[in-house]
Amino acid sequence: MAPQFSAPIGTRDVLAPESARWSALAASFHNQFSSAGYGLVLTPIFEDLNVFLRVGEHTEIVTKEMYDFEDKGGRRIALRPENTASVVRAFVEHRPLTPWKALYLGPQFRYEKPQAGRLRQFHQVGAEVLGTMDPDADVEIISLLDGFYRSLGLRRVRLMVNTLGDAGDRPRYLEVLSAHFTANLDVLTEQSRATLARNPLRVLDSKRPQERDLIEAAPKLVDFVSDEAAAHFERVQTGLTRIGVTFELAPRLVRGLDYYTRTTFEFAADALDSAQNAVGGGGRYDGLAEEFGGPPTPSIGFAAGVERILMACDAEGVFAVPSATVDVFVVDTTGGQEALTLTHELRAAGLRVDRAFDARSMKSQMKSADRSGASIAVLIGTDELAAGNVTLRPLRGGEQITVPRTQIVPEIRKFL
Ligand code: HAM
Repeated sequence: MAPQFSAPIGTRDVLAPESARWSALAASFHNQFSSAGYGLVLTPIFEDLNVFLRVGEHTEIVTKEMYDFEDKGGRRIALRPENTASVVRAFVEHRPLTPWKALYLGPQFRYEKPQAGRLRQFHQVGAEVLGTMDPDADVEIISLLDGFYRSLGLRRVRLMVNTLGDAGDRPRYLEVLSAHFTANLDVLTEQSRATLARNPLRVLDSKRPQERDLIEAAPKLVDFVSDEAAAHFERVQTGLTRIGVTFELAPRLVRGLDYYTRTTFEFAADALDSAQNAVGGGGRYDGLAEEFGGPPTPSIGFAAGVERILMACDAEGVFAVPSATVDVFVVDTTGGQEALTLTHELRAAGLRVDRAFDARSMKSQMKSADRSGASIAVLIGTDELAAGNVTLRPLRGGEQITVPRTQIVPEIRKFL
């Protein structure tokens, strides 16, 4: 017996008609950002492993989840777990003019424990602005993303913002934070104690109930940031308010990657389970380009998970699968040759047309016509063929008519 294969754990096949939503989502994202001056950037799906080590050697993405391997040439390669590191690598390599505004969409790979909304191959749409310190760039990118969610019909998406300060602000805060947790080790779970040793910031991420009060009482990073970083954050908040983008301050919002500085943000979909409700997030990474050997290049960006956005759309009952992709279905009971030419002519006239194959029965072809979502069937049988006619049968109610074949295009258009 032939072996039966299925898609690898943590991956999904997306077939039509569901896939039509993906194209619609991608088109809408592209439109939202390209209309604001962002250009599409395509980077390889795999890179030198070291490119991704720059996102933070202590992050789970790097320590546990990397899809890395040695290629046939003995190079250490990894499938990209996220796109920002690749975009920055490409920036440093090609040095486009700044501010460089880039948008992207594509698959990302993380060896995670798969569950609803958490996949090993998932897809992100994202955008980055490289080479500006202007807080208005933060406001622009956040508000465009907010507008994108709204354009899909999502209403229950909540924006949280925070500042992580500059790299220089971090050590003092980490010291105080570590001291706070170390003084209360008995409250911490074993997992959090391990996290504390690696990266005290990430303890703030814990959602375990017994640690909630301790985390609530922890010192806040926002109280430790430099005056410049605080002023920057203030400008971001006033900017968002000025253009009517609603947000919440989230002093405990830390993100899973080490490159962040200053503004960080996340969008949570309240219609989803809290473990997987992050439908997008990002922030500034003012020092990353220098880590790739580039010039100082303050930058900001985000990525948003396509699967999760679609789950949120389902939960809110918005952004339905687009209906029919064809308007006309050709049914030929003379053997199929007429369908071949008719379909060809109608498509050449700009109509969206499908047909049946395999010279099936009239009944079976009409079933396909119904399923296709077309609004009209063009019937050609031996009578029509002999008389040089076709019959147009509306599929959503109405009387059928027989018209000369030469008049087919204008007659069909009357129905559409
Ligand atoms: P991230 O928070 O790791 O950030 O991922 C962004 C989004 O990707 C998440 O909010 C979520 O919607 C989706 N996502 C992440 N992991 C998974 C998964 N395993 N399954 C399904 N969806 C997932 C970044 O990737 C940064 N590169 C964002 C950024 C861009 N920061 C600055 N520029």
